[in-house]
Amino acid sequence: MTKKILITGGAGFIGSHVVRRFVQHYPGYTIINLDALTYAGNPENLTDIEHSPNYRFIKGDITDEPFILSLFKEEQFDAVIHLAAESHVDRSILDPLAFVRTNVMGTAVLLNAARTIWKDKEGKRFYHVSTDEVYGSLGESGMFTEDTPYDPRSPYSASKAGSDHLVMAWYHTYGLPVVISNCSNNYGSHQFPEKLIPLMIHNIRQQKPLPVYGKGENVRDWLWVNDHASAIDVVFHDGLNGETYNIGGFNEWKNIDLVHLLCSIMDRKLNRPAGESAKLITFVQDRQGHDLRYAIDASKISQKLGWKPSLQFEEGLEKTVDWYLSNQEWIDHVVSGAYQQYYDQQYSHR
Ligand code: NAD
Ligand code: TYD
Repeated sequence: MTKKILITGGAGFIGSHVVRRFVQHYPGYTIINLDALTYAGNPENLTDIEHSPNYRFIKGDITDEPFILSLFKEEQFDAVIHLAAESHVDRSILDPLAFVRTNVMGTAVLLNAARTIWKDKEGKRFYHVSTDEVYGSLGESGMFTEDTPYDPRSPYSASKAGSDHLVMAWYHTYGLPVVISNCSNNYGSHQFPEKLIPLMIHNIRQQKPLPVYGKGENVRDWLWVNDHASAIDVVFHDGLNGETYNIGGFNEWKNIDLVHLLCSIMDRKLNRPAGESAKLITFVQDRQGHDLRYAIDASKISQKLGWKPSLQFEEGLEKTVDWYLSNQEWIDHVVSGAYQQYYDQQYSHR
């Protein structure tokens, strides 16, 4: 089957895995990757597929309304998989308006272009890739289901909740064929070293302090990024219009336990004495409004669409560490420039 699919944010962490999967698995599809190449977007994430005949990159900003409208008019996409976003909670605390602009306004601009250009909605699909953080924070027990009321706490999660609401509004008001998925924390190759796992790997390698917020007791539910990409594939092809699907691997970890696990993997891989890297752990001032716990109940996607994650966490973490250790050049590139300035701003006062 042929389809022309716009993937937004395809030069980022998850987007690059989704682009690669679709380009390689579906040679009949034409994949157009639209990305503004912010600090988080990196064309090097896709060097292996950039010359594929069914792939094209366009640099552009999803908030640029005239540009987006003319792009939709010109290209006549069959579907959109929308991942472009400002994605880091700590940055959203420093600069919340950037998150409202990109995540809320950018999503509205895309939705509006789709509704304007898609006169015939048959076979069309607007897929919004979202986060479990829209549900807020859990206590010691319970899990997020698709029926959990939205209760976002950070500027990041509020902007993603806002964009989810806009997507459903375009479904109910204009009949736009939409689908949403809300996924837990991802980890894997090509993740920018501002998020917990790649930041810790990078700092352990450099023997720099490992900044654990508060007491390290917050819990996150981790999924290998390639498993998220396979779930997106399934939801894109088989999900029902107007539905949301939670994606997760039933894999909760307290931050401090996860950092200890990473330290022991790194000690082994770097031939350091056991316990050496854990000495770098430094408890620092907590994040403002730090959500205590996320946990995804992924029963719906498993029962209705037959999706399951492929990897155990320890195995995925080993693969991830191996990737970072053998791609030092990629890291050197992404931490050059503005990274150090961001790092100092984020961590020097803690
Ligand atoms: P990322 O920060 O690595 O990548 C975001 C990409 O969007 C970058 O390539 C960036 O250049 C691009 N972008 C930003 N602003 C843009 C704009 N105005 N116009 C066009 N492109 C723009 O993010 P990620 O971690 O890969 O997350 C991708 C999506 O998945 C986001 O929507 C995020 O909310 C969602 N998500 C992420 C996680 C996670 O754990 N990282 C979990 C669930 C859902
Ligand atoms: P992060 O990777 O930023 O994802 P999110 O905030 O979207 O869940 O953070 C994961 C957890 O790790 C979160 O509880 C905050 C914590 N954390 C630290 O303890 N230290 C750090 O340097 C970072 C970046 C995160």
